[in-house]
Amino acid sequence: MEFSIKSGSPEKQRVACVVVGVYEPRRLSASAQIIDQASGGYLSEILRRGDMDGKPGSTLLLHRVPETLGDRVLLVGLGKEREFREKPYRDAVRAAVRTLDETGATEAALYLTEEAVRRHDQAWRVEQAVVVALDSQYRFDRMKSRHEDEPRRPLRKMILAVSRRGVLAQGEAAAVRGLAIAAGMKLAKDLGNLPGNVCTPSYLADQARALAKEHGLTVQVLERQDMEKLGMGSFLSVAKGSDEPPKFIVLQHKGGGKKDKPVVLVGKGITFDSGGISLKPGADMDEMKYDMSGAASVLGALKATAMLNLPLNVVGLIPTCENLPSGRANKPGDIVTSMSGQTIEILNTDAEGRLILCDALTYAERFEPAAVVDIATLTGACVIALGNVATGLMANDDALARELLHAGETAYDRCWHLPLWDDYQEQLKSNFADMANIGGRPAGTITAACFLSRFAKKYDWAHLDIAGTAWKSGKEKGSTGRPVPLLVHFLVNRAGKKV
Ligand code: BES
Ligand code: MN
Ligand code: ZN
Repeated sequence: MEFSIKSGSPEKQRVACVVVGVYEPRRLSASAQIIDQASGGYLSEILRRGDMDGKPGSTLLLHRVPETLGDRVLLVGLGKEREFREKPYRDAVRAAVRTLDETGATEAALYLTEEAVRRHDQAWRVEQAVVVALDSQYRFDRMKSRHEDEPRRPLRKMILAVSRRGVLAQGEAAAVRGLAIAAGMKLAKDLGNLPGNVCTPSYLADQARALAKEHGLTVQVLERQDMEKLGMGSFLSVAKGSDEPPKFIVLQHKGGGKKDKPVVLVGKGITFDSGGISLKPGADMDEMKYDMSGAASVLGALKATAMLNLPLNVVGLIPTCENLPSGRANKPGDIVTSMSGQTIEILNTDAEGRLILCDALTYAERFEPAAVVDIATLTGACVIALGNVATGLMANDDALARELLHAGETAYDRCWHLPLWDDYQEQLKSNFADMANIGGRPAGTITAACFLSRFAKKYDWAHLDIAGTAWKSGKEKGSTGRPVPLLVHFLVNRAGKKV
């Protein structure tokens, strides 16, 4: 879809459809009022008759409204004006796009971007409109031989209205940001949705190479032999249970100065997690194809970073392999030596994410990072604690945690800070090695982060547990593209700080 920013009166737009909001109960928004006045009370009459009351999610399509230059007017319910915040705003944009995809209009002027959303400005509304519009149009039908349910005449062009000429430039910059975020999310969603037999570690490596070529990033893919030389015994112990060769992807965006320390993003890339010898139960096991969503979000964030040409050095590290049971797989009780030299007793082979991430965290040291953020579908416990709404955030540095919390708020891709107190470390004690790879049922999300923290002592580090937020289950099963918006905002803010 194409976007443009415009300031101008809604009744004067020569487009297939003008989209304006209606608040509850039956209250026209400012742009709807303008159309109402121009048309001699056409809209208020409709409200009076009870055909649109402004309920959130409701829409009403009108044709040939008198004295307006557009072919159609789409009324979108916004709910109560006092409660019009991030979610109702996003829901309204989504409802508008979905409705327009079903109509003959392929072009629309959206005036919802003029409605005030508390604590956010015009630029935020534009960026969110772009992200939400593209997200609602996303489909994954690459693996279907027939594409029947595609809209016949989808929305192709959106004009986003801003309230005055003075904010046009801000609006345009916001749209560019929205496009980059949406492109990063699309990449992450595509990779997440691909099945494990297609999206293998080798496939991810190929995708990283393609991304590097397209956007001028540097890429390096370490093979098993390279990792053996580096002593990544923990990562390789997970990989050895599978016939697919493991890969360690190193992607670099060099947008900053030569001496500027990079931000390092580390993504868990388990392309399928069966649990290994500690085999998972069969129900919903297919969803473990999403266990590379952290890796996908790193690729997505790097794509957006490159598209935006951020003046910042960013490194993406992706350890990727499968977690399968076999004659060569890890067994409960096995002890492995990580790249850091610390030994690990593997009490549960299903706690494999931390086993591959720990070596990537040690590898990250060589970049002398300004900060390291790892992103992983790490624990089922995080889904229990925070559901599908918030990503779990843990960090060894409070300032870094605050940056990520703030980035999540503005991106509307939120995370929630959990404690990483030393008191929890005791749960990882092992009688036979430096540590165990599991800490029992209590605080499973935190003890997983505690495990990782032992490999992240040399720099500021944060961990995002996206087990609940990276994909949706049920009827709408599919990858969400999260936390790409959060990561992009975090990087944009970091880039801004330097200039
Ligand atoms: N990939 C899973 C975490 C997961 C489970 C994400 C369910 C989303 C939904 C991870 O590798 C895992 O299996 N974790 C175990 C850890 C446990 C053995 C300590 C878990 O959460 O059960
Ligand atoms: Mn697992
Ligand atoms: Zn896993």
